[in-house]
Amino acid sequence: MEKSFIFALSQLTVAKFLRSQLFLTVVCWGKKELLATSTNQLLRPKLLKDTWKNYPAALACFKWMLLQVKVPYLSEHLSIVLPTALITVDDFNTESQVFGISCLEHIIEHVTRTELNWYGQGDVIYKALERLLYHREAELVRPLLRCVVLLLGKLEGGYTNHDNNYKWSRCDDVLQIVLQNTEHEQNIPLRRAYIDSLPALLDASKMGVIRWSKRLLRILREYLEVLKVYLQHSQPRIAHNSEALFHMLLRLLYDITKSSEGGGMRSQKIDSIVLQETVDLIEECPPSLPIYGSYWFVLLCNYKYIYKSFDTLARWYNTKLLGLHLGPLPTVVACDLNTVKEIFARPEFNGKLDCYISQARAMGITLGLFFTDSDLWIEQRRFTLRHLRDYGFARRSVLQEENVRQEVMDLLALLNSSKGKEDYDVFHDDCALLPQLFCPGTINCLWSVLAGDRFPPEAHKKLRQVADASFHFVKDVEPTGGALVLTPWLRHFGRKGFGFDGLVNGSGYVTEFFREAVKDHEKNYSEDSLRDFIDDYIQELKKNDTKNIVNSFSEDQLLLLATDLILPTAATMPAMLTFTLIMLLHHPQVMLKAQKEIDSVVSRDRLPSLDDRSRSCDENGGGQNVLKNKEKGRRAIGRPRTRWMDQAQKDMEAKGAGLRERFEEIDRNGRPAEVETSNDDDDDDCRRVCVGETFSRFTIYLFLAALLQNFTFSAPEGKPIPGLDDIISGFSLSPPDFWVKVVPRN
Ligand code: HEM
Repeated sequence: MEKSFIFALSQLTVAKFLRSQLFLTVVCWGKKELLATSTNQLLRPKLLKDTWKNYPAALACFKWMLLQVKVPYLSEHLSIVLPTALITVDDFNTESQVFGISCLEHIIEHVTRTELNWYGQGDVIYKALERLLYHREAELVRPLLRCVVLLLGKLEGGYTNHDNNYKWSRCDDVLQIVLQNTEHEQNIPLRRAYIDSLPALLDASKMGVIRWSKRLLRILREYLEVLKVYLQHSQPRIAHNSEALFHMLLRLLYDITKSSEGGGMRSQKIDSIVLQETVDLIEECPPSLPIYGSYWFVLLCNYKYIYKSFDTLARWYNTKLLGLHLGPLPTVVACDLNTVKEIFARPEFNGKLDCYISQARAMGITLGLFFTDSDLWIEQRRFTLRHLRDYGFARRSVLQEENVRQEVMDLLALLNSSKGKEDYDVFHDDCALLPQLFCPGTINCLWSVLAGDRFPPEAHKKLRQVADASFHFVKDVEPTGGALVLTPWLRHFGRKGFGFDGLVNGSGYVTEFFREAVKDHEKNYSEDSLRDFIDDYIQELKKNDTKNIVNSFSEDQLLLLATDLILPTAATMPAMLTFTLIMLLHHPQVMLKAQKEIDSVVSRDRLPSLDDRSRSCDENGGGQNVLKNKEKGRRAIGRPRTRWMDQAQKDMEAKGAGLRERFEEIDRNGRPAEVETSNDDDDDDCRRVCVGETFSRFTIYLFLAALLQNFTFSAPEGKPIPGLDDIISGFSLSPPDFWVKVVPRN
């Protein structure tokens, strides 16, 4: 077995053949089934503790297959792949150990911390690796420490930046061994391997490194001593090397300053290629000034509409991908649909900036879905989608369609009534205030899945207050987050001016509103009859409590998670409905055409249903026209591993465009493309795409079609309606408030 990895020619050929067969399997069956079937049935008997050495080809196939399967599929197969990886790590041969470590590294990378904690699997891996820390082969040390750091990041690291407790942890155990080895090691390659691995290990220990200051300083002093001696002896040649030395010291200075300026920015593994691309772009694009970077240039181009400003800059630099510094952060702005799509699809842009805003709205910790990333985000997003779907969210469900129909009927009843004391502020004298008119209805549609209930018309006033708060959140800060994100101390000078109040209080109001519902649910909770999403979440919390599991579930997370669902439902969805109506007001002939189409397909005797979408296309045609105009400003900003909410507004547009394309597709094919199933794909659960897209499409369709079926909309006498470019550009796009005349069709 000393030559275990040097394949005999025949074995190699067989392995290649097997691999090609397996490749076919991947293509035909998909990755999910690959591991379960092939590893279990074909390979497992060959990879047992006392057989694996006889089957190097099976081992190679195993590794190849393992590398094909990534998050989120790998977790399902953890119990199949882990034993083989552990068996090889357990071997005395260094090559086998390195092999096993690389398998473990892949496994750790592609499962979440909760999955690792199941049945103490993470601890088992740690034990297997810990034993190797005493080995002294340079080729083992690098991958080993890389793997250990990755593992400890998941086992010991908190779910958020702030989960930083200073108790002795396994990071300290590892540091103790590594520092001791580093200090006393005389073998140069081995010492280098330790030194190379040290930064990541120190980074993983966070504040815990303080414990090791003395020893670390001793090691650093030794290195500086080397530099000093080198400088002394190379005096005559120093001029030739001065530039390299200067660069080295400057870089150190820059790195230190940058990380301290970054403040709340999470230290992330930045993909070096993306970073390099960003740096290249930045060199070509707007100049950077201290503190704010290129931000003032952006404001200079168009203070009111930042997305137009990016457009101007993109044209100026003749590029679709702008690079610039927003404050200290290297930022990429994608300025056309294809680039935006690509960015959405690339995991390195999944990161979010852990900034002052994201913490200020959530008890000083970054929680929820909008601003979170890594494990917390994946785990929470997946849980949310799966459980919301159980109650009819984002899929065809008779119950949910009935809930929406109820809201539509309430809205029609309000518009048909001559008065409405509670609703006077949004409807009187045949005129309705948009977008506020729609907000109670849209919130109720979500509320039925979140809290299993709906607010009756008498309580709509309360929902309109929630909507007002939500509009503050989406409108008050410009799309990049602006000066407040770059220099949070500005809030002390003008809280209103910089949008701080609207943002934090707006989000806070929604959180408090939801807190009441959670309290109610906690009082009436029964394990045997789960009523809605809140109950499901409480059940998960209780389960974790009983089993003593530490993961990303907490009551605060539930509050912020729901806040992130309510905010767009209360603000963005009514805003999109209103934009559509504004377009129709500017194109009355399209409104008329849509109404005729509805009359012929649905008639006036019943309300439109989701089944009518395949038969009618004029509402979609209308929508198509309406949304076409928005195409102008489509773009998105990305930051390598730190792309953040600032782009929600651009992205909203991109998403608006996405909606438009779906509408077009419905129009062309007569049937919606992936409407019914779009959110069923597991991949969607951990891609940075809108959680509410399908839900919005369904709901907007039902509201819009019913409104056009029953009413004609026009500008009230003496009151102007917004122009097509009257857009409030905040975190997401919103129309200005305005009154519209509503006349029942006869
Ligand atoms: C027509 C209305 C809507 C539009 C145009 C829209 C658009 C978008 C866009 C562009 C993103 C940004 C993706 C990113 O940059 O990370 C997003 C994210 C999100 N949206 Fe929507 N959205 C709408 C409605 C909704 C609704 C009704 C909900 C909730 C039920 C919702 C929940 C979310 C959440 C939770 C995220 C964050 C997803 C994540 O980061 O994982 N959206 N939306």
